[in-house]
Amino acid sequence: MRAVVWHGTRDVGVETVADPRIEEPTDAVIQVTRSGICGSDLHLYDHGSTMAMRDGDILGHEAAGIVVETGSEVPNLERGDRVSVPFNISCGHCFMCRRGLFSQCETTRAMGERKGASLFGYTHMYGGVPGAQAEYLRVPQAHFGPIVLDDAISDEAAMLLADVLPTAWQAVDYADVPIGGTLAVYGLGPVGQMCVRVARHRGIDRVIGLDPYPDRRRAADEHGAVSVDVTAADPVEVIRDATQGRGADGVIDAVGMDAEGSTADRALQATRLRPDRIAALEQALGSVRRGGTVSVIGVYAGWMGRFPVGDLFDRQVTLRWGQANVRRWTADILDALRASPPLDVTGLVTHAPPLDEAPEWYEHFRDKDPGVVKVGLTPR
Ligand SMILES: NC(=O)c1ccc[n+]([C@@H]2O[C@H](COP(=O)([O-])OP(=O)(O)OC[C@H]3O[C@@H](n4cnc5c(N)ncnc54)[C@H](O)[C@@H]3O)[C@@H](O)[C@H]2O)c1
Ligand SMILES: [Zn+2]
Ligand SMILES: [Zn+2]
Repeated sequence: MRAVVWHGTRDVGVETVADPRIEEPTDAVIQVTRSGICGSDLHLYDHGSTMAMRDGDILGHEAAGIVVETGSEVPNLERGDRVSVPFNISCGHCFMCRRGLFSQCETTRAMGERKGASLFGYTHMYGGVPGAQAEYLRVPQAHFGPIVLDDAISDEAAMLLADVLPTAWQAVDYADVPIGGTLAVYGLGPVGQMCVRVARHRGIDRVIGLDPYPDRRRAADEHGAVSVDVTAADPVEVIRDATQGRGADGVIDAVGMDAEGSTADRALQATRLRPDRIAALEQALGSVRRGGTVSVIGVYAGWMGRFPVGDLFDRQVTLRWGQANVRRWTADILDALRASPPLDVTGLVTHAPPLDEAPEWYEHFRDKDPGVVKVGLTPR
């Protein structure tokens, strides 16, 4: 089969690799119909070698597809079922899964690495599992993970259900904005855009979006945000001015470790003194009101030397974060997609190029070329 393979910094190829097959009785194999390129893939694209990627690893973790084969212990799936495959691989029955903490699944986590649940296509810290940017995908723990969908759910929505939708849903949930309150969303990539849409759908009236790129701000505004150019003004000041000097009730960091805007950040990352660029996280922490919540959904890999412990203590700030516990939110999201009016996910996937064009679309997405927000690779 054809698959997107990582070789090194900003070096991916589309190559012929071995077809996946059933290895465990709880496996399934799906034929992939859509496979997203995620902001998380960009972290690997830019510095995978420091994040336990190996030459030849297959990328991708956001798959929609059709079941072609199941192991003997997968009674929930049948050949021909349309499915969305959650990006974290969870068993559904361990201590963590029973508590809804599917991204911490104890059955699949690579214990030696002291990390959470295994993830598709996401480094050897997270299990080294072959990824979903491919024609076919082996799905471990298929008795629990895949979500069977009817034809009313589009391929795009099915792909978004694997990551972007539950990630945004969790981010908004964790931000804990009270009725009548204000939510600020740092980063208006696919995840931040979806946070805006989910927040508005869930009744949050006031959503302030923040991003350096005008097309991304415009897209968020079309779905009910009021967006701010982080390069034109101090975003912390703008948010305070808009909230009677207090700050937002909830703030989402949907930027993560490759934040733009600080040269010191870039220098520390380049010299490997600090893996994360923390400019957006610092601004998110500064933008929340006393007693409010910062919900960090952007991915961070290392540590933060100047953690403002005294300030966060004094201001009684709550911090929530982590990988999305995908299955925790599936039922809520399906209800929202079927509600009247529905949670609108149309137009978020801006491009659906063939799988073979993946290398150029990694570049377009990384460079934030105008209008390129979410890419859903289409194998055939
Ligand atoms: N926790 C999870 O489960 C989970 C799941 C999916 C994605 N993610 C993470 O979410 C983050 C966003 O992913 P994405 O797919 O939307 O990709 P993305 O990289 O396109 O989104 C990041 C956005 O942040 C903006 N940005 C950069 N610097 C900024 C700054 N200083 N202030 C405000 N905005 C800034 C960029 O312009 C971009 O629009 C990434 O870190 C990704 O790894 C986490
Ligand atoms: Zn993703
Ligand atoms: Zn588990």
